[in-house]
Amino acid sequence: MALYKKGLAFRYVQETKYSRERAPKDNLGSMPSPDQFKTYRGAERVQLPQPDFNESADLWHCLARRRSERNTTQEPLSLEELAKVLWAAQGITARAGIYLLRTAPSAGALYPFETYIYIDRVEGVSQGIYHFDVADFELECLQEGNFNGAFTAASLGQPVVRKAAVVLIWTAMMLRCMVKYRERAVRYIGMDLGHVCQNVQLAATALGLGSCPIGAFYDDEMNKLVEVDGEEETVLYMITVGKLG
Ligand SMILES: Cc1cc2nc3c(=O)[nH]c(=O)nc-3n(C[C@H](O)[C@H](O)[C@H](O)COP(=O)(O)O)c2cc1C
Repeated sequence: MALYKKGLAFRYVQETKYSRERAPKDNLGSMPSPDQFKTYRGAERVQLPQPDFNESADLWHCLARRRSERNTTQEPLSLEELAKVLWAAQGITARAGIYLLRTAPSAGALYPFETYIYIDRVEGVSQGIYHFDVADFELECLQEGNFNGAFTAASLGQPVVRKAAVVLIWTAMMLRCMVKYRERAVRYIGMDLGHVCQNVQLAATALGLGSCPIGAFYDDEMNKLVEVDGEEETVLYMITVGKLG
């Protein structure tokens, strides 16, 4: 307990508390409003098929069956399966003014993250690193090629990453949330991504696929792979998805 109180984590939790006596205060000054989404103009695009909502899966069954699966096979995913997984993560389900509401909740409807995908094996799509364009439901190709070794090495050599057909990589967009919640935003970004990740695990279960959340990776190696600065935008969480045997 004494050690915890000396550390950064303790100070952060204490200094970002809301209370009736003390209004939250910081020295950050005013912040410009960042973009709601990131898009890569000029990137080659892959249109994702809209999920078929006539297919149903029993929620209680999916909750009971959800597991982190580390032994997926070499079989590729179909583009329909990838589209459903991405829709579960961040599909747009309604509009409220300027806000595009999604499948997962987010503090202030700010969605302070971006989704990147390393595609190792998806039918009809080249191997490579992609960004998910939420508004257009498309993939934007950042770099084609086989990066299996690099993603595995940056994930502390975890075999689950080597075996995956695809890896979703989520970055935190700090300013998108800090502009409203200031320092407390860091609490919310982690919570937001937890909801997104659970959606993906439930969707994977519904599709009979295996998925595993990944929080252990060398941050700046992963940032470099998805070409982000590691400061205003930094990789926070990932999930592997693949076929089960
Ligand atoms: C934030 C977070 C980070 C995780 N990071 C990893 C990881 O790097 N590697 C891994 O194999 N599993 C990882 N897991 C999966 C957990 O080990 C798993 O959820 C836990 O053992 C419970 O098993 P279950 O998900 O099958 O119920 C992570 C889970 C969470 C929620």
